[in-house]
Amino acid sequence: MFLKEALPLSSVSQNATQSRTRFAVRPETAQPHVEGNVQVSDDYLGAPQDIDVPAQNTDELQAAWREWATECQASGTPTIVQLNHPGRQSPAGAGKKSFFTKNLAPSPIGLNFGPGILAKVASKVLFGTPKEMTVQDIKLVIDQFVEGAKRSYDAGFKGVELHAAHGYLLAQFHSPATNRRTDEFGGSAHKRVEISLRIIRRIRAVTSPNFSISIKFNSADAATDKTEDVLEQIRLLVDAGIDFLEISGGTYENPLMMGDDGVAKQDMSEDKPMKASTIKRESFFLEFAQTVRKSFPGLVLMVTGGFRTRTGMEGALQSGACDIVGVGRPAAVYPDFPTKIILNENVKDEDANANLPRIEVEGAEKWIVKISGVTALGAGKTTRVYQEHIGSMAAIKAFSCSISSLMTLTIHSRCEEAKPNGQESPRI
Ligand SMILES: Cc1cc2nc3c(=O)[nH]c(=O)nc-3n(C[C@H](O)[C@H](O)[C@H](O)COP(=O)(O)O)c2cc1C
Repeated sequence: MFLKEALPLSSVSQNATQSRTRFAVRPETAQPHVEGNVQVSDDYLGAPQDIDVPAQNTDELQAAWREWATECQASGTPTIVQLNHPGRQSPAGAGKKSFFTKNLAPSPIGLNFGPGILAKVASKVLFGTPKEMTVQDIKLVIDQFVEGAKRSYDAGFKGVELHAAHGYLLAQFHSPATNRRTDEFGGSAHKRVEISLRIIRRIRAVTSPNFSISIKFNSADAATDKTEDVLEQIRLLVDAGIDFLEISGGTYENPLMMGDDGVAKQDMSEDKPMKASTIKRESFFLEFAQTVRKSFPGLVLMVTGGFRTRTGMEGALQSGACDIVGVGRPAAVYPDFPTKIILNENVKDEDANANLPRIEVEGAEKWIVKISGVTALGAGKTTRVYQEHIGSMAAIKAFSCSISSLMTLTIHSRCEEAKPNGQESPRI
């Protein structure tokens, strides 16, 4: 087993008119990474500061995207853009939509933060009950994803990842909990994933065979999804031509992806080398990856969420459950985490650990979480703290800019002997 490539942290933001691109942290080494949460519609953002793909492109804007791609890849760093639409998870004030415009979703089902009155008010006021999309709305969103991919391709990025995890629009279509449609976009596992299949096929048609197309996909939720349905959807995505599948999980209602950072640290002191059960506990979604691996031995799999230690990452790769390890929060604190710690032979295994501080929700915020029962508020605090870390890195670089969401920083690795039929590296 060997770790093949690691990815540096870089971040970029654009000002309100998106006419200029300014760079927060410049990639220093030649390793691939993902730019997170680029919204395909400027009407519906996930957060007010998100980068978006405005309906009207201009020469100036396309030049800014080219500059962005060039800067990200200046040291030979292959970069892919993560395209997203928040669907019902677009908060009030994020995007050009008016305060009275409803969010879009496959079915008119609002977010459920819990039974309490405050939880209900938070859902109603912040997100509202979404509008059930017409087929026309769906076709427009497909066009928007394709346009975002085309602009990324023309700008010189090496690929796109469709965000179909964390409860965003594509994930809302995939899940029977949020998609109650009975037309061509709902009613069966196949029809629920149809929107993503159309996007993938059309992106391939307007780009090139070498352009990487991947998807970030939620693990099966035992409460709502049948595993066989989810595996059927993955089979269709593979047939449509994805280059790799990233596994994550959670939604705004149940933010599993922001799981506890304390687990890996405790386990490191208990077990050396790590037991299989411990590796599973460090990585939030490895068990589901193992299920996917059994059905798709040749599919390049990436797993993100919870990885903190070299031992945990090596264990996951050696188990054959994944080929790529995604790292979020450690990279927000230590942009050199892969090269300086995980891949650095001078750092002993027991020290190769992100050692992130546990983030406690305190004071009035703790009280609000308690009485409202909205666990998403705790995850919101975690995201805020790490966004501040990214912001301070930008400040160190002496650029004044608002930072977009953290892209997933990945450690790309191959575990040749664990793979039954040695496959090619994904196109990134
Ligand atoms: C500040 C911050 C911003 C994030 N932005 C994105 C994003 O743009 N796209 C995405 O897919 N995930 C995003 N995530 C989630 C991470 O990619 C990852 O799924 C999550 O942090 C769990 O991985 P970790 O345990 O390595 O942090 C973000 C996380 C944090 C903390």
